Amino acid sequence: MADTDGIKEAKLFYADRPQKTEGFFLKGSNSLDWGMKNRLARIFNPDSGRTVMLAIDHGYFQGPTTGLERIDINILPLVPYADTLMLTRGILRSVIPPSVSKSIVLRVSGGTSILKELSNEEIAVDIEESIRLNVCAMAVQVFIGGEYERQSIINMTRMVDIGTRFGIPTLAVTAVGKDMARDAQYFRLACRICAELGAHYIKTYYVENDFETVTASCPVPIVMAGGKKIPELDALTMAYNAVQQGASGVDMGRNIFQSEVPAAMLKAVRAVVHDNASPAAAFDLYNTLKNQS
Ligand code: R5P
Repeated sequence: MADTDGIKEAKLFYADRPQKTEGFFLKGSNSLDWGMKNRLARIFNPDSGRTVMLAIDHGYFQGPTTGLERIDINILPLVPYADTLMLTRGILRSVIPPSVSKSIVLRVSGGTSILKELSNEEIAVDIEESIRLNVCAMAVQVFIGGEYERQSIINMTRMVDIGTRFGIPTLAVTAVGKDMARDAQYFRLACRICAELGAHYIKTYYVENDFETVTASCPVPIVMAGGKKIPELDALTMAYNAVQQGASGVDMGRNIFQSEVPAAMLKAVRAVVHDNASPAAAFDLYNTLKNQS
């Protein structure tokens, strides 16, 4: 039983100091509940307001793609340098040690392969799994303009509804529909639809022209998708331009794990995202680390 005698008199009330009411650092996220904000603050670094997500979920529709043949050998050594891992529950359970304390973004849509129409996805993971696996967000593909556009949008809104019940944010991943031009007009449309329908943050591609209009017209954070492997300096330049033009970080896969020296590339991307390093400085860092490896 708790002691009731000898209790010290409480006197440190600091009556002259009003309690601070902090705004939340992330764009458009101030009205979310504590659990949502806490999860987002584990994905996005509260100091820089940005994130470096390492995307390794490709196997869910592509199988063992180049660089992801052996996640235990090729990817685990990279984990310390990422803020967040984006992956499937299969890889999480079978390969990632539970002692890893990085935030996890779980791929929850699926059901198609590269052999068929990719936009024909459904929700492929129960919310109980996301809770059980202690994830910080759930990723759903949205195919604006794709054959199964409506179905993919409804997948996302369902996850927003279910995730909101449990304080788990939903990441909408904009997959470019067939015959859609990859330009700012398309991405403004895709990102805004996802945000209007409740996505907590959005993964989308960088475009050379007017990318700042994509970020400006999207009321929630955008992370830049990496896309196909391009030369390291080009990928660093793309990441630099994206964050300077309003992206809240990157979610890159192939441009990291298919790099000649993935750990060096990931560290260089971090310098661009968190320290505003120029592409040239980050590329120097990449080459220095590469020569040391
Ligand atoms: C696809 O749309 C998925 O989200 C990918 O599996 C992945 O996240 C793409 O990453 P990246 O294009 O940077 O290789």
